[in-house]
Amino acid sequence: MAALSRRAFIGGGVVAGVGLAVGVPFALEGIGRSSTGEQLRSTARLPHPFTLPLRLPPTLKPSSTGGGVDRYVMTARKANAHILPGLTTAILGFEGVFPGPTIESRTNRPVAVTHRNRLPIPMVVHLHGGHTPHESDGYPTDYIYPEDMRYLRQHRGMAGMDGQPPTPAGDVRYGERIYNYPMQQRAATLWYHDHRMDFTGPSVWRGLAGLHIVRDDEEDALGLPRGHYEVPLVLTDRAFGADGSLIYPSVDGTLVNTPGVTDPYVAGVLGDVMLVNGVPWPFAKVDRATYRFRFLNACNARRLRLRLDPTPDDGFVQIGTEGGLLAAPLQHNAFELAPAQRLDALIDFSHFPAGTLVTLYDDFGDDRMHQIMRFRVGDDIGPQSTAPHVLSTIEELDPATATVTRSFRFQRGSVGHGNGWIINEEPFTPTSVAARPRLGDIEIWELFADFHHPVHLHLDPFQVVGRGISGPGQFDAGWKDTIDLSPGEQARIAVRFTDHAGRFVFHCHNLEHEDMAMMANFVTTT
Ligand code: C2O
Ligand code: CU
Repeated sequence: MAALSRRAFIGGGVVAGVGLAVGVPFALEGIGRSSTGEQLRSTARLPHPFTLPLRLPPTLKPSSTGGGVDRYVMTARKANAHILPGLTTAILGFEGVFPGPTIESRTNRPVAVTHRNRLPIPMVVHLHGGHTPHESDGYPTDYIYPEDMRYLRQHRGMAGMDGQPPTPAGDVRYGERIYNYPMQQRAATLWYHDHRMDFTGPSVWRGLAGLHIVRDDEEDALGLPRGHYEVPLVLTDRAFGADGSLIYPSVDGTLVNTPGVTDPYVAGVLGDVMLVNGVPWPFAKVDRATYRFRFLNACNARRLRLRLDPTPDDGFVQIGTEGGLLAAPLQHNAFELAPAQRLDALIDFSHFPAGTLVTLYDDFGDDRMHQIMRFRVGDDIGPQSTAPHVLSTIEELDPATATVTRSFRFQRGSVGHGNGWIINEEPFTPTSVAARPRLGDIEIWELFADFHHPVHLHLDPFQVVGRGISGPGQFDAGWKDTIDLSPGEQARIAVRFTDHAGRFVFHCHNLEHEDMAMMANFVTTT
């Protein structure tokens, strides 16, 4: 079966853990819930909510800006983080921090990031939402091995483990790799994260994710809240052992041999501690002013329904989504956000009296996971602003002009000898091609889901045409790169791939589903 050949052992040509060692029978505790997944239980002593101050991820400075290119160097390494009071947590972090440092770019100004791997495991970096050529897109087998794995492999080769040097499965580099991002795309909230074949879930869970914000003149001209009043909020659920370590139910804790998680987490791994920018249930002091918040759901599997209480006058004034600004602002009292989705919203605290406590809830979360963070409105008065009536122009992809309609079924199924998640009956394998779109053509993709599947396409954003017999949902506006599908749902999206010919992936962004084979290739052609 395809699942066998796709899992070449990365260390020395030894095929280990053939197939997926996931539990049988398939226990789907998540059925009927707001998320498809199973919640872990922390044993660590946890802080009282709203006692720790919110932090912001550091911004990474370019190592050079000459020649019209912003160059960055980022080193992924093991580090000790202080997440829970009095405990240290071993993480894997870009620059040793979680979330990783934020990169800020301008539209049409190329960026080159040298990602160095000082981890004990291979990695792959994908810029999520990036309009990126194949070579730099972080294809799941385009590994960056740690430098010393070169020695390991040669050593193993000499020891005659298989008689000859192992054949790399993809475009393998040792120690580091330069990712070139043309940045020919609109202003938007992108993020970068590990994307390694079969092991994205555990690596992102341990910390390998960060923001990459793109700005442009169009957005700058709108006078949206900036500086102190523009705040990124990276939301992740995690679970901690008594010693402060991150818990994750990997079948194989080395994260190199056997992919997958133990039953019942095959449906998705949910944490019982909510972190905002790496801080559990933080508080943030805010001025009586209008803020712009960039929400990112960076959870492995947890869907969120964000709500503020008390509700500000206009609730969330949505100005953007994954692919940047909407055409016009949209008002929401609550907002659903699936894994990998982003919400860009203005929140006006200016009419609250000083001292008001405004709590951000996740209405999908139970017990302590019902709350996310709290804002304390201070005495200071800052700029109040309302979103312009017109934010941007969005070209509508007309489904009537589509040249192809494709159908993809996202469902559970067998992968190797175990259970996993598949698309159109096939588990992911780098060699099979599910679609060959022509660059520049508009295509309709029909997506069917058995459980919650946040479906993400690489290379270009898309537009939601409809759900079932209805039009797009209330959270579907604008250029999306991830669509939140509910159990039993069918949706249609319109997509047009442009510029870059090559092999890309689309997949479910429930990271456990992705690791357990819910991914497929499309190859764009001219
Ligand atoms: Cu956020 Cu293919 O990934
Ligand atoms: Cu899924």
